[in-house]
Amino acid sequence: MRKVVIAAALFVTAAACNSAPPAPPFKPIAETKDLMEFVMERQADIVWGATGTIITEAGVEERSPKTDEDWIAVKAAAVNLVEAGNLLMLAPRAQDGDRWMKNVQSMMGQGEKMIAAIDRKDTKAMFDVGSDLYDTCTTCHMHYMPAIKDLYR
Ligand code: HEC
Repeated sequence: MRKVVIAAALFVTAAACNSAPPAPPFKPIAETKDLMEFVMERQADIVWGATGTIITEAGVEERSPKTDEDWIAVKAAAVNLVEAGNLLMLAPRAQDGDRWMKNVQSMMGQGEKMIAAIDRKDTKAMFDVGSDLYDTCTTCHMHYMPAIKDLYR
C-alpha cells in the first residue's frame, strides 16, 4: 500500500513539473541607463519634490501636495518607481544575483514606505522616507554606476 502511495506521489510531482508554465516572454526594451533616466530619476524627482521646505525671497514655503490630483500624481510616481525595481531585476539588467538584488530590494522597501506615507498623507514621513530612498540610489551607484564607482574604490 505504501508503495502505491509513493508511486502516486511521484506521479503527481512529475505531472506538476511537466505542466510548469514556460518562462514569461519578458522583453526588456530600455537599457539600464535609459530606465534610470526616463523612469527612476523622473519618478523619484516627483516624489522628492512633493515635500520639503523651500526658502525664497518671498519667505518659507512648506511644500505639500494640495489637490486630490496632486496626491494622485505623487502616488503614481511612487508606484512607478517601486515597480521599476522589478524591471531592474530582469536579465540583462541585473548585474549579479546577490548585491544587485539586495540593492533593488532596499530601493523597493523605501518605495513601499513612501506609498504608505502618501496614503496617510503624512508629509513629514514622506520627507524622511525620501531621504532614505535617496540613500538606496547612492548605495547602488557607488558599486555599479560606471561614472562614479571608481571614485569609491
Ligand atoms: C540596483 C542598482 C541601482 C539602483 C537601486 C538605482 N540605480 Fe540608478 N543607476 C544604476 C546603474 C548601474 C547606472 C549606470 C547605467 C549605465 O550608465 O549604464 C545608474 C545610473 C543612473 C543615472 C544616470 C543615467 C544617465 O543618464 O547616465 C541616474 C539619473 C540614476 N541612475 C537615478 C537613480 C535614482 C533616482 C535611483 C533611486 C530612486 C536609482 N538610480 C537607483 C543602478 C541603480
